[in-house]
Amino acid sequence: MHILLLGPPGAGKGTQSKRLAAEFDLEHVTTGDALRSNKEMDISGMDTEYDTPGEYMDAGELVPDEVVNAIVEEALSSADGYVLDGYPRNIEQAEELSEMTDLDAVVYLSVDTEELVDRLTGRRVCPDCGASYHVEFEPPDEDGVCDECGAELEQREDDTEETVRERLRVYEENTAPVVEHYREEGVLVEVDGEGTPDEVFESLTDVVQ
Ligand code: AP5
Ligand code: ZN
Repeated sequence: MHILLLGPPGAGKGTQSKRLAAEFDLEHVTTGDALRSNKEMDISGMDTEYDTPGEYMDAGELVPDEVVNAIVEEALSSADGYVLDGYPRNIEQAEELSEMTDLDAVVYLSVDTEELVDRLTGRRVCPDCGASYHVEFEPPDEDGVCDECGAELEQREDDTEETVRERLRVYEENTAPVVEHYREEGVLVEVDGEGTPDEVFESLTDVVQ
């Protein structure tokens, strides 16, 4: 099964992709996590504005297509079934993706903009095991400490309100047209992303079966 999960920053793509991958025994392919593991990679030879992916990410801008396309192509070539999260983020990436693979389900998680800002500014992540929490909506058992591994939780550098608003602007400009592209092709299924994580997961499992 090849699932594409689309949605604005904070829609719950990461949260739900992990659960879908576990439920259906799929690979979770996420450009955000892949790029965070390669924040310091030297891309200066590619004639890009910044020298590393991390500089784009911390500014809330898109990392150049050349870098991201290569990551996805490699990840998909070794994945049987997958949930793809964070890609494509512009029309050029959507065209690349159509050359790389076919899709069984394209799902768009919709969430109101102010709710997205609350979710992202309140997110806390574990630097050791990658678990994700929210100070109000999904708090850890002990304040500031990961339930899974006991490490101290951190805030992502791009989760400040200013950068979150820039990410939302970049989303509207570059990624909203991708959603429209799949809608026009007649393959897009929209799922309300505003319930509890369990409710959203239930809706998702209904549409990808
Ligand atoms: P990326 O890591 O992909 O960030 P994003 O798309 O902005 O998405 P997020 O991870 O912030 O949100 P999410 O939808 O996964 O939500 P989550 O489940 O965590 O990308 C980061 C950067 O990398 C980009 O800005 C760009 O620079 C670069 N990049 C990545 N891909 C790229 C590409 N293809 N091309 C170019 N550049 C690229 O949930 C958020 C919070 O809400 C959590 O705290 C969670 O606990 C909480 N939450 C989740 N679900 C619910 C719910 N139902 N109710 C209440 N709270 C909830
Ligand atoms: Zn942890």
